Amino acid sequence: MALNLTARKNLGELLKSAHTSELKRTLGATNLVFLGIGGIIGAGIFVLTGEVASQYAGPAIVISFMIAAFACACAGLCYAELASMIPISGSVYTYSYTTVGEFFAWVIGWDLIIEYLFAASTVSVGWSGYVVSLLKNFGLAFPTAFTSAPIAYDDLLGFHATGAIVNIPAILIVAAVTTLLVFGIQESARFNNVIVAIKTTVVLVFIIAGVSYVNTANWHPFIPDNTGEFGHFGWTGIFRGAAVIFFAYIGFDAVSTAAQEAKNPQRDLPIGIMGSLIVCTVLYIAIGLVLTGIVPYPQLAVPDPIAVGIDATGLTWLSPIIKLGAIAGLTSVVLVMLLGQPRIFFAMANDGLLPPAFSKVHPKFKTPYISTIITGAVAIVLAGLFPIGILSKLVSLGTLLAFAMVCLAVLILRKREPSLERPFKTPLAPYVPIAGIIACFGCMAFVNPFAWELLGVWMVLGIIVYFIYGAKHSKVQQALK
Ligand code: ALA
Repeated sequence: MALNLTARKNLGELLKSAHTSELKRTLGATNLVFLGIGGIIGAGIFVLTGEVASQYAGPAIVISFMIAAFACACAGLCYAELASMIPISGSVYTYSYTTVGEFFAWVIGWDLIIEYLFAASTVSVGWSGYVVSLLKNFGLAFPTAFTSAPIAYDDLLGFHATGAIVNIPAILIVAAVTTLLVFGIQESARFNNVIVAIKTTVVLVFIIAGVSYVNTANWHPFIPDNTGEFGHFGWTGIFRGAAVIFFAYIGFDAVSTAAQEAKNPQRDLPIGIMGSLIVCTVLYIAIGLVLTGIVPYPQLAVPDPIAVGIDATGLTWLSPIIKLGAIAGLTSVVLVMLLGQPRIFFAMANDGLLPPAFSKVHPKFKTPYISTIITGAVAIVLAGLFPIGILSKLVSLGTLLAFAMVCLAVLILRKREPSLERPFKTPLAPYVPIAGIIACFGCMAFVNPFAWELLGVWMVLGIIVYFIYGAKHSKVQQALK
């Protein structure tokens, strides 16, 4: 029989399989909120705020934060509906398989690799930057050749060699986290809770310590005039800023990838997703205000803006503490991303779209260990070789696309399966999903054109892989024969 690209997975069977999973159900609501925060607060706030404030938005980075939060809130509500209905590992990939069909699901699953695997690498590069900077505080200097990317990109030169050899700290953190994840999700969740508590405290310390040093003159003009170039200040700058700083919110959706390990997914997944998103939005807006209030925005073009903010207050003794918190924060993002990715591969392999090795669960640790190791290995290569700038834009673009698809999936499923039980319903549907789609595509329009080219190449590669492997081994296709 010919290939049916819109073949769908049967929702009933899918839900049944959720109860026979080999994965352990150990995560409660608090763990899930912490997992979300673990995935969210990271390189976006600790690294990219500098670029956004100094080059695109100025103090109006606060408006960029709000726009990005709006897009995420719409997508988050849609995620919560789907995750509560279909509490199965695989996130939006699985939801699409039951709604739109196999090919679309594959495309989204492939797109999610950008969000998780590439983001893990991106953040580990930020981690490396903060570790090197902290060690410098203690008089330990490492040669740049071994702590930064050998490849860089800019609009003028394209890809070019930097003279560095490899980013060793970035490789080490990915390797360490991968090892931890192989040993078990419960241990990982516990580790994550501790680290999230540390980084949230540090963020609060920054806000509270910084607030009394705010000089409101730094907020004028709040929206600096556009320089004449698209995306550099003014309203186009605010939107470009939103598209870039969107990276800071990525991660709440990782909660949905742990669906089969949640004790009470119907109730707790929506709490995990929306809870973590709300906490982080409030913190980000406060950080944006305090940071641009302490430091004049043109001075924020640095890789460690939060540390620079603290130095500007004169509270230099706080600087190493803030850096330690940032390192903790970045570690937990790498952890959550490297936890999410193998679970998506796991779901794809269960469906026959990837080789069976990806769905192997370790007999003792009960983790998808082979896909965890493969994910870690690829992330190590990316982290060792590429810089944060272009990787982070590609991650934002790919994730915005995935979020728009989640909103679309809610609209389609409401039409196709109106009577299905929805323990959590997206409020004000269809307006919220439609607003989510518009907001995500709106932000995508402001991302650097080069990131679009990379996304295109990645997607074409994914389509080739599908036709060479997935289409031939798909269980859904075989059942149709
Ligand atoms: N939101 C995550 C971060 O900012 C990906 O690091």
